[in-house]
Amino acid sequence: MKVLGVSGSPIKDSNTDKALKAVLEATGLETEFIKLIDYKVEPCRACLGCVNTNKCVIKDDGVMLAEKAKEADALVIAGFTPYSTIDARTKAFIERLYPLRHKNGFMAGKPGAAIITSAIPEGSKELPPAADMGINAVMFYMMEEGMRFVGSLKVQGNVPCVRCGFGDDCKMSGLKMMYGEMATINSVGIKSFESSPENIEAAKNLGKQITEALKS
Ligand SMILES: Cc1cc2nc3c(=O)[nH]c(=O)nc-3n(C[C@H](O)[C@H](O)[C@H](O)COP(=O)(O)O)c2cc1C
Repeated sequence: MKVLGVSGSPIKDSNTDKALKAVLEATGLETEFIKLIDYKVEPCRACLGCVNTNKCVIKDDGVMLAEKAKEADALVIAGFTPYSTIDARTKAFIERLYPLRHKNGFMAGKPGAAIITSAIPEGSKELPPAADMGINAVMFYMMEEGMRFVGSLKVQGNVPCVRCGFGDDCKMSGLKMMYGEMATINSVGIKSFESSPENIEAAKNLGKQITEALKS
């Protein structure tokens, strides 16, 4: 049994990557971790060139990555939420799984899970539901392909303003947008996946759910 994990986060050792690796490890199965920034993956051209072959006509790494998804027994997709929706790399990867659909439904029946890291705090009333938007993008892909969506993990990440150098003063600071005019990097703090016991527990549970789904 093999579980494929795909991260759309371009940041090295990001919270998204750490969460994904923790979920993969918790499955106790053979796993492979893919970081999309290391590959070239265009979005789908909607040319339907894949209908008879189940293979995309675009000559980039999307073909090889779709083959990995086809061979895997379960798939975990991890992304983040620039402008409150799933990031473009993760979305392009999802679109490039379209060739696996036609006539054979190669992903149907496989367990799948979503991980989303977002900066907007969960439950914020005035700001967009970024985490839900990201989870939905992955979940609806999996539902539309007949996969068994076993669950998701939302990770509290950091707005880029905590590391740009101007986050405390910039009039466009995301820190102030999310936490109010008086917010500073110090008062908000830097969020890391590993410093939250809830994150670690949730990742373990999601990994176990994937393994249980594979056994049933
Ligand atoms: C261009 C850009 C726009 C962003 N916009 C949003 C946003 O609208 N909502 C949000 O929750 N996070 C937003 N973020 C923050 C990312 O979701 C955050 O950096 C994420 O936690 C990064 O995850 P990582 O640590 O795995 O890289 C944005 C980040 C970038 C780079």
